[in-house]
Amino acid sequence: MNSFALGFLTLLVICLAVAVSLVVKKLSALRDPLQIWDALNNIGILPIRMRAWIFSTIVGFANPYSRSINFRITELRKGKACGVMKETKAISNPFRCVHAAALITFGETTGGLAIFTLLGKKDRAILTNISAEYIKVSRGLLTASSVVDPIKDRDIKELENTVLIKNAAFETVAKLTLTWRVDLKSE
Ligand SMILES: *[C@@H]1O[C@H](CO)[C@@H](O)[C@H](O)[C@H]1NC(C)=O
Repeated sequence: MNSFALGFLTLLVICLAVAVSLVVKKLSALRDPLQIWDALNNIGILPIRMRAWIFSTIVGFANPYSRSINFRITELRKGKACGVMKETKAISNPFRCVHAAALITFGETTGGLAIFTLLGKKDRAILTNISAEYIKVSRGLLTASSVVDPIKDRDIKELENTVLIKNAAFETVAKLTLTWRVDLKSE
């Protein structure tokens, strides 16, 4: 490659990086994850992989601890969130399977997003209890999903959701139960 082509390529990469960081900054200002998700999916020119990467980067800004795992959110809608996580050396235990704490982080990130899709701008939710059941050894590509019923009674003080973590053979490897103390404003 000659130096002109190299220079052009460098410039292109820099422009792309600046554009992505601008989008990330603008989107991080929005508090509602569903709004961010929908906004990203309306930017048609972005490849799906890049949208997924941007979204997990935004989640990483809001929740820095989630950056310890390699995950992507694959689906987000009102009352539902799904994600995938890759087994990497950094999150494995000495027995070459995914560490229990990485499963908790993955499940809490996915389950938290499912809850937040149901909250209004002024609502609050704080995690008060996580319980995890480890059913099978976790290896390879894992998926997490959580479905939450619509909130009918806005006077409730607590919400609970379960997160199922499955392996590539669709076997449930872990089941998490999350309890949130909520403060819902009447609309
Ligand atoms: C935490 O949640 C689990 C599952 O719902 C429940 O069995 C346990 O009693 C809870 N612990 C506390 C301290 O509330």
